[in-house]
Amino acid sequence: MNNLKDFLLSKNTEKNQIEIILSFAKSSVLIEKEINNYEKTNHIGIGRNKTGDIQKPIDIRCNNIIMTELNKLNNIFYAVSEEEENSKLMYNGNLFPFPENIYSVAFDPLDGSDNIISNGPLGTIFGIYSEKNNLHYSGGNLICSGYAIYSSVIIFVFTLGEHVYEFKFDKEKNIFLKTSNNLVIPSKPKKIINCNPGNMYKWREKDVNFFKWLTEENQKYTFRYSGCMVFDIHRILCEGGIFMYPGDYKNKNGKLRILYECFPLSFIIEAANGISIDGNIRLLNREIKTAHEKTPIYIGCKRDIVFYKYFEKILVQKSTFIIESFNGSGEDEVSVSEGEKIDTYKVLSDENWTRISKSNGKKGIVPTKCLYFHETY
Ligand code: F6P
Repeated sequence: MNNLKDFLLSKNTEKNQIEIILSFAKSSVLIEKEINNYEKTNHIGIGRNKTGDIQKPIDIRCNNIIMTELNKLNNIFYAVSEEEENSKLMYNGNLFPFPENIYSVAFDPLDGSDNIISNGPLGTIFGIYSEKNNLHYSGGNLICSGYAIYSSVIIFVFTLGEHVYEFKFDKEKNIFLKTSNNLVIPSKPKKIINCNPGNMYKWREKDVNFFKWLTEENQKYTFRYSGCMVFDIHRILCEGGIFMYPGDYKNKNGKLRILYECFPLSFIIEAANGISIDGNIRLLNREIKTAHEKTPIYIGCKRDIVFYKYFEKILVQKSTFIIESFNGSGEDEVSVSEGEKIDTYKVLSDENWTRISKSNGKKGIVPTKCLYFHETY
């Protein structure tokens, strides 16, 4: 197995990026120690952070761990933390001309921190943004994102945009070692819906109907929710399903923060072959004006996000439909769009292609991975 540093070097990762990733990995080990030493008597709110969450001493301590580690580097422009009201300027070198390979970072030091009292799942989320001296954050500026989860073993997961790598912390050797396979959402994802139905009374009609539809007897979805977004997203990477935190009549942008929760996790889910939208558009296409902005989010395997977008249309049971648009250009290929219903099809012998016929008058072949076959589930 590869250790984290050698692995990053083998991928020709830019030197400053390596330092930042290693800094978050080191912080995660220190944070786990902090969690292990946690005293229940400390579970007292000492105020609220900028976005309204109750802040506990452990939130502040985990934030300080990360800030201390980041302060040792000299390649960070701004740092934005869920636990800090303002973005912190970290760079004290010359800005004219603006230096190359300098990055801004955003992080949630202890995601799901309410779970600590019951020994439930906890994590850390981070995003590394390319910086051109304008602190202008958009999903398109992300060059790396990742998370740590603190359970029986610390796992450290990240993407540089293409693949999702998972490392486990080896306590004896004091290093992170790569697990065997990259994380990709399974091609036959499990039917799992992760959300907080306790908010249903204030959800919009579409969200209520979607949840009710998925949990009807014949859809066979199961419901899970940990109260720690990063843990629920990790389960989606391992098993499939959807996580949603909608906006509602009271909070039109929901609860989750874009810069240090939704952008980083969307970047990972897309690299693992999933989709993340704000209800309408691809989340990573969003731009934000202030550091602590929130957004509704629907994130998960392609099948389930396409279900969300089109379920009113797809309500016809047992329909097979397109979960990924395809522009057919080769001989016999046909173009199809996401959400389109397919009436008649036959998977060809190599299983990579499926022939559709009598579907909206279309006839031809499409890649099998673009189709969701209702009957096979
Ligand atoms: O950071 C916010 C968070 O703790 C997420 O990890 C989690 O999914 C969500 O809030 C839980 O919020 P609620 O208790 O409102 O469902």
